[in-house]
Amino acid sequence: MDTTHLIFLLFFAASYSLSSGSADSVNVYEDFVRCFKNKTGIPDKELTDVVLSRTSVSFSPVLRAYIRNARFNTSSTPKPSVIVVPRVDSHVQAAVICSKTQNLQMKIRSGGHDYDGLSYVSTNNTLTVKAKLRALYLGKADDVVSMMAKEFPELGLKKEDCKEMTWIQSLLWWLNHVDVDKVKPEILLEREPDSAKFLKRKSDYVEKEMTKPELNRLFKKLATLNRTGLVLNPYGGNLNATAANATAFPHRHKLYKIQHSVTWTDAGPEADRLYVGNLRTTYRIMTRFVSKNPRSSYLNYRDVDIGVNDHGADSYRKGEIYGRKYFGDNFDRLVRVKTAVDPDNFFRNEQSIPTLPPKRI
Ligand SMILES: *[C@@H]1O[C@H](CO)[C@@H](O)[C@H](O)[C@H]1NC(C)=O
Ligand SMILES: *[C@@H]1O[C@H](CO)[C@@H](O)[C@H](O)[C@H]1NC(C)=O
Ligand SMILES: *[C@@H]1O[C@H](CO)[C@@H](O)[C@H](O)[C@H]1NC(C)=O
Ligand SMILES: *[C@@H]1O[C@H](CO)[C@@H](O)[C@H](O)[C@H]1NC(C)=O
Ligand SMILES: *[C@@H]1O[C@H](CO)[C@@H](O)[C@H](O)[C@H]1NC(C)=O
Ligand SMILES: *[C@@H]1O[C@H](CO)[C@@H](O)[C@H](O)[C@H]1NC(C)=O
Repeated sequence: MDTTHLIFLLFFAASYSLSSGSADSVNVYEDFVRCFKNKTGIPDKELTDVVLSRTSVSFSPVLRAYIRNARFNTSSTPKPSVIVVPRVDSHVQAAVICSKTQNLQMKIRSGGHDYDGLSYVSTNNTLTVKAKLRALYLGKADDVVSMMAKEFPELGLKKEDCKEMTWIQSLLWWLNHVDVDKVKPEILLEREPDSAKFLKRKSDYVEKEMTKPELNRLFKKLATLNRTGLVLNPYGGNLNATAANATAFPHRHKLYKIQHSVTWTDAGPEADRLYVGNLRTTYRIMTRFVSKNPRSSYLNYRDVDIGVNDHGADSYRKGEIYGRKYFGDNFDRLVRVKTAVDPDNFFRNEQSIPTLPPKRI
């Protein structure tokens, strides 16, 4: 019998990830419900809204509500067996206990990352490279114009280039609602977009300034690739005022982060291969300009290319590969914490922190 189960908490839900026969899924659901009821004493009429089976009418809408990438919204995408939509703390506790006793893998749903509307460099069919500079200044337009005239006159920033708005309107602006006066901020409460595009993201960190000739060479290469873009987010400043080992996040002293980005709308494996391939090429081109040993990555832009873990006998070694890219030297402390608080590696995913390997005798 297959023992790989996938729970996916919506905080979460459960499923057989392999050969997910519907009979298996029904058994998983029934066993889970029995345990969940016992731990919470939840009345039946509430239960159906909290623990969803694949046959529940809410199952697909709840599952899809947070899908932000159409690549993972297909009929062959493995589905969870159970989705739990916790209403109170005790539902979360029961879900953790029950998935553990039933040997299900729990997955905690993440809020997703909004990739739209950020500054980017992109290419078009005429093979030119387009660069946009977008920035947010917390203050008046006059102040930023005179500051930039002093600090960065080459940019030639004029007051007409600026748009003053409230901070909440700036969120709308980043979301591509350019006409922020016409859009109500309440639109931000809409958490369920009815469609998602196909996308792939990767990340890099730059530690040393690129020279002008290097930039020119880079732009020439980028011009040969369709639809891939680089988003450059400056670091340093206040971010760098905290020591790299003060929190899990280590990349504070880097000059800037690169988000490699490709987004497309045509479904199917051919488009997938083309666009993901283009992005991997961009990533390869950037190798000489970015951090090395290891080539670091930003955890929040999950990228399975940099290593995945099946948490078998080799779990520590595999975890070290992506773990040092995401966390640098902080990886070792994270492993010690993980080993102390979750020695059985219950909370895991394809890129979670591994436990220390057992000591040889
Ligand atoms: C849960 O199961 C235990 C052991 O079978 C039983 O003693 C307890 O009363 C049950 N609790 C609920 C709320 O059903
Ligand atoms: C490509 O971008 C350039 C520069 O922004 C623009 O002049 C040109 O019209 C664009 N071509 C197409 C086909 O979009
Ligand atoms: C996911 O697919 C369903 C069915 O094809 C579609 O109705 C829905 O809009 C899609 N969701 C997203 C976020 O694209
Ligand atoms: C880019 O698009 C053009 C026109 O659609 C196509 O001919 C070319 O093969 C594409 N190049 C890459 C690297 O995808
Ligand atoms: C980060 O801080 C260190 C030590 O204060 C300094 O040497 C370095 O230049 C800073 N880096 C950036 C990108 O601000
Ligand atoms: C962080 O690094 C500093 C300087 O390298 C060191 O003194 C300090 O003990 C480190 N803190 C932790 C929690 O390891």
